[in-house]
Amino acid sequence: MKNPNSAETTNPFDFVLFGGTGDLSLRKLLPALYFRHCEGQLADDGRIICIARSDLDTEGFRSMINTKVRQHIPDEHFSQSSWDEFAQRVFYMPIDLSTIDGYDELGKMLEGREDIARIFYLSVAPTLFATICEKVREAGLITEQSRVALEKPLGRDQDSANEINDQLAEAFSESQIFRIDHYLGKETVQNLLALRFGNALFEPLWRRERISDVQITIAESLGVGTRGGFYDQTGALRDMVQNHLLQLLVILAMEPPVSVDPDAVRDEKIKVLRALKPLVGLDAVENTVRGQYKAGAYASGAVPGYLENETVPDDSTTETFVAIRAEIESWRWAGVPFYLRTGKHMESKLTEIIINFRKVPHSIYETADGFNTPNQLVIRLQPEESIRMRIYVKAWGDDMQLQPVHLNMDFNDVFQKRQMIAYERLCIDIIRGNQTLFMRRDEVDAAWAWIDPIREAWEKHNVVPKSYTAGTMGPAAANALISKEGRKWYED
Ligand code: BG6
Repeated sequence: MKNPNSAETTNPFDFVLFGGTGDLSLRKLLPALYFRHCEGQLADDGRIICIARSDLDTEGFRSMINTKVRQHIPDEHFSQSSWDEFAQRVFYMPIDLSTIDGYDELGKMLEGREDIARIFYLSVAPTLFATICEKVREAGLITEQSRVALEKPLGRDQDSANEINDQLAEAFSESQIFRIDHYLGKETVQNLLALRFGNALFEPLWRRERISDVQITIAESLGVGTRGGFYDQTGALRDMVQNHLLQLLVILAMEPPVSVDPDAVRDEKIKVLRALKPLVGLDAVENTVRGQYKAGAYASGAVPGYLENETVPDDSTTETFVAIRAEIESWRWAGVPFYLRTGKHMESKLTEIIINFRKVPHSIYETADGFNTPNQLVIRLQPEESIRMRIYVKAWGDDMQLQPVHLNMDFNDVFQKRQMIAYERLCIDIIRGNQTLFMRRDEVDAAWAWIDPIREAWEKHNVVPKSYTAGTMGPAAANALISKEGRKWYED
């Protein structure tokens, strides 16, 4: 197998994309594959076979993506000749996913290519996962080199996730299943691993003796838009915390793996998930905040509240914001609070991890701020990728006055090239068969096991969301959650 971390060209493949005309395919997956094609990373003999219901042929599909995918590729990164070459890899088949006939047709298309990587990428509603898996198996399309890739949501709770995983397991072995959390494809998330395990500097500091608390914020400026129907059944806890936020937490908190081998990494991640202190009953009520946005305004104009969204029931009590105070019960982290928060229609789009280090044990200097803002590592994932370290220095002048300053590292300045979108890395890894950045079944299970009691406690104790104005950083209760321990959310 080729080294999954190198820029080498992949081996030949058939990438069968179910849901080929869907939003994710047009906005992310096909652009991602186009970019990898431009980098020369896709084998010449690599086909992308898009499947959907629309009655199109390959020519019709190619002309559709010529506008609908093209618009998601910035002009400065577009080359007509590369696009024309790329389009030649793309094929289309209209298939009714519920009957075997279409899969037999697909089988003819794949015939004679049993020895190469065969990917079934399910960019479809989760209700179709089981049917597709069953039918590809029935049609005899699953080869040794086959893989299945799935988008979240993987269930609504531990039981329903298990049911889906059982259905997958009837057709595919665990080493063939790629459960996607697109946050793991983001460059800075991988850089978290590099920062921690590629440098000797941080490891001695990465523990309860040196770190006072950790904050992880995933703030979105957009509301639920036209996704209200799905979102109202889901809520922020399931949509963002069970997966993206917990994945960031786990990567921050895991022990060093013995190698970059997929299972070595995932064995360490699961230990953190299992060490999360359960939040049950009143403990869950006290350590969490639910919020729902009401009408507000941005510089660009006013936005309606969640309940005013036409796709949402008028009396919905679904949360669009969550804040949680979590703890990890391990020697490394005991007693260190991990404050998590995420929400729709917050002040701006921002994903940030803050490591707050402890204060100096005995202060011999004066500082302008009374050492109230000790050393901080600020890792920003979005909108731009940067790492900043806050330290105290002596301010120029004739007195010994200390002042906090930032050591800044902006990835754009350092690398000066187009930043990969998460799906580029993930698609290449699926083609290569590298599972490091994908969730193993036991990880998904452990994440739900921690999330379910929180939701149950909200129901039992009738915790309704507190409202917050769109365009702000969430309800006041989220500030109270952290300020009761004498801390505050990081602000730039
Ligand atoms: C998705 C959620 O998984 O992640 C969306 O379903 C959310 O609700 C999105 O908007 C955020 O992803 P990103 O990469 O834009 O931060």
